[in-house]
Amino acid sequence: MRTSTESLGNQLMTEFDRMLKVLNHVTEHADAIPGKELPQPELDESQCRHTAGLMRINHTGEVCAQALYYGQALWAKDDQTRTHLHRAAEEERDHLNWCQARLDELGAQVSITNPYWYMHSFAIGSLAALFGDEISYGFVIETERQVESHLQEHIDDIGEQDPKSMAILDQMRLDEIRHGNDARNAGGVELPEPVKLVMTGMSKIMKFVSYRI
Ligand SMILES: [Fe+2]
Ligand SMILES: [Fe+2]
Repeated sequence: MRTSTESLGNQLMTEFDRMLKVLNHVTEHADAIPGKELPQPELDESQCRHTAGLMRINHTGEVCAQALYYGQALWAKDDQTRTHLHRAAEEERDHLNWCQARLDELGAQVSITNPYWYMHSFAIGSLAALFGDEISYGFVIETERQVESHLQEHIDDIGEQDPKSMAILDQMRLDEIRHGNDARNAGGVELPEPVKLVMTGMSKIMKFVSYRI
């Protein structure tokens, strides 16, 4: 966490370390994975490839969410906002771990574009924070809304064929709704429509690419 006594150099080193941990899947604690107790579903090759593509999108989405929140936290105007963002990022790390675990079970890789998306999202988060904490929380609200929407699409798409992935996505969707509400209650404002449109466009590019590589 950033403090007034810590030099900017140290803070940036901490952020660099965080990025390496996220990208190299270094986890500090094991999490109870939703649906862990369920048996592996019987998926044919194309179902398996499709589900893995969707879970890879969700994994990259969680990489983006963490980077966004850490970028926002670094430049947050007050400590309460910073603590809020760090707590949200911690929960996104759980989601990241769950998606990673499911990708492993499906025998699939994470997206090779994750380093780009981490840096991209960190820069966006840093930029958002410069406009003040209300706008910063507004980014959280819109990000969570978009994530919730694509999680719902994936839940509808996967259906009953893969209860293990469904259990993870269901729990993530509930958590994302709560994150959005928390940011709204903390004073977040609705972002202007053009900003939302740009975010939607970037999210579509991320989904298109991460599904494939
Ligand atoms: Fe998440
Ligand atoms: Fe979230």
